[in-house]
Amino acid sequence: MPRLFLGIESSCDDTGAAIVSDQRDILANVVVGQTELHDAFGGVVPEIAARAHTEKLDVAVSSALDKAGIVLRDVSAIAVTSGPGLIGGLLSGVMMARGLATGAGLPLIGVNHLAGHALTPRLTDNVSFPYLMLLVSGGHCQLLIVRGPEDYHRLGGTIDDAPGEAFDKSARLLGLSQPGGPEIERAASGGDPSRFRFPRPLLDREGCDMSFSGLKTALRRERDTLIDAQGGLTRQDQHDLAAGFQQAVADVLIEKTRRAVEAYMAERPSEPTIAVAGGVAANGTIRAGLETLSQDFGLRFCAPSLHLCTDNAAMIAWAGVELDRVGATTHPIIARPRWPLDTSQPALLGSGKKGAKA
Ligand code: KG4
Ligand code: ZN
Repeated sequence: MPRLFLGIESSCDDTGAAIVSDQRDILANVVVGQTELHDAFGGVVPEIAARAHTEKLDVAVSSALDKAGIVLRDVSAIAVTSGPGLIGGLLSGVMMARGLATGAGLPLIGVNHLAGHALTPRLTDNVSFPYLMLLVSGGHCQLLIVRGPEDYHRLGGTIDDAPGEAFDKSARLLGLSQPGGPEIERAASGGDPSRFRFPRPLLDREGCDMSFSGLKTALRRERDTLIDAQGGLTRQDQHDLAAGFQQAVADVLIEKTRRAVEAYMAERPSEPTIAVAGGVAANGTIRAGLETLSQDFGLRFCAPSLHLCTDNAAMIAWAGVELDRVGATTHPIIARPRWPLDTSQPALLGSGKKGAKA
C-alpha cells in the first residue's frame, strides 16, 4: 500500500499543497499564485505575501485532498517548507501544517525549500545520487552536488542577483512586462546577440561563483546610450539588447556548470547526471547549452517539466518522502528565513527580490 504525503509550500509568492505517494505518484499539485497582488510594487511584498498565504493555504490543502480523492486520515505524514524564504509566508505554512498534524495525529516533517527543488529529479526521473544540480530561479542560483536527502555540496552560487531576478530587472529596463524571463526570451529570438558587447562576469575568476547584477547595469548603459543618440529604442534595438543579455547569462551559467562537472566527476558517480530546476531552466538557450554540455561529457541531462521546476508543493511532499526514508524527521520544525543546504560553505550574503538568500 503506497504511503501518501501532504506537502505544503508558502516560502515566497506561491501557495502550494500537494499529495505525493512514496511510489512517485503525484495525486494532486495545487499552486495558487499571487503575481497580480505584487505587480504594482515591482517585487514581492512580504506582508502581502504572508496575508495571501494565510487566506489561501486551507483552500489549497482542501483542493489537493479533493483532487487526490482522499481525506486527511489517508495521509501518512505532512511535509512543510520551513525555510529558507520570507518569514511571514514560512510562518503561515508552518503554523497551518502544525495545526493539521496535531489535529490529525500525523508526523510533521520540516523541509528545506532548496532541497525540494534539488530532489525533484528523483521524483520525476528516479535519478541516483550523486548528481549535479543547477538551481536557477528568480530567487536562487546554486551549483550543487546532491549526495543524499540531507547531504549537499555547494560548488558555487551567485554573489548578487539570481539569474531570474536579472532577467526580470532587465525586462523592466527594456519596457517589457513581468515575469521578464519569457519576455526577454521572446524578444531575443529576433535579435543579434553579438551586436552589443556584454561582459561575462567572474569567468576570469576560478571556481563556480557567479554574478549577474553587472549584466543588468551593462544593459542599462547600452540602452541609455541609444536613447541619448536617437531619442528612443527601435524594436530591433530591443531585440538585440535582449539577445545579447540572454547570451551573456547563458554563457556564464554554462561555463560555470562545465567547471562544476569536473569537480562532480571526481566523485565517480555511478550514473553521471546534470539536472536543472527553477524557472530560468525554461529558457531555451540555457537549456540547449546545458544539453550540449551534458553530451560533451557523456552525461545524462535531466530537466523536470516546468511546473515541477518552479515553486510547487509536490517537490516538498517528495522531499518529505526522502527524509522519512532516511529517518531524518525528528528536527524541530521552526521557520528559518536563512537555511543553507551546505553549512560547510560560507553563507551567501544579501537579500534578493524574493527574500533572504539561503
Ligand atoms: O522558480 P520560479 O518560478 O520562482 C522563483 O523564483 O522562486 O522562477 C521564476 C523566475 C522569474 O524570474 C522568471 O523571469 C524566470 O524564472 N523565467 C525565465 C524564463 N521563464 C521564467 N527566465 C528566463 N527565460 C525563461 N524562459
Ligand atoms: Zn524556489
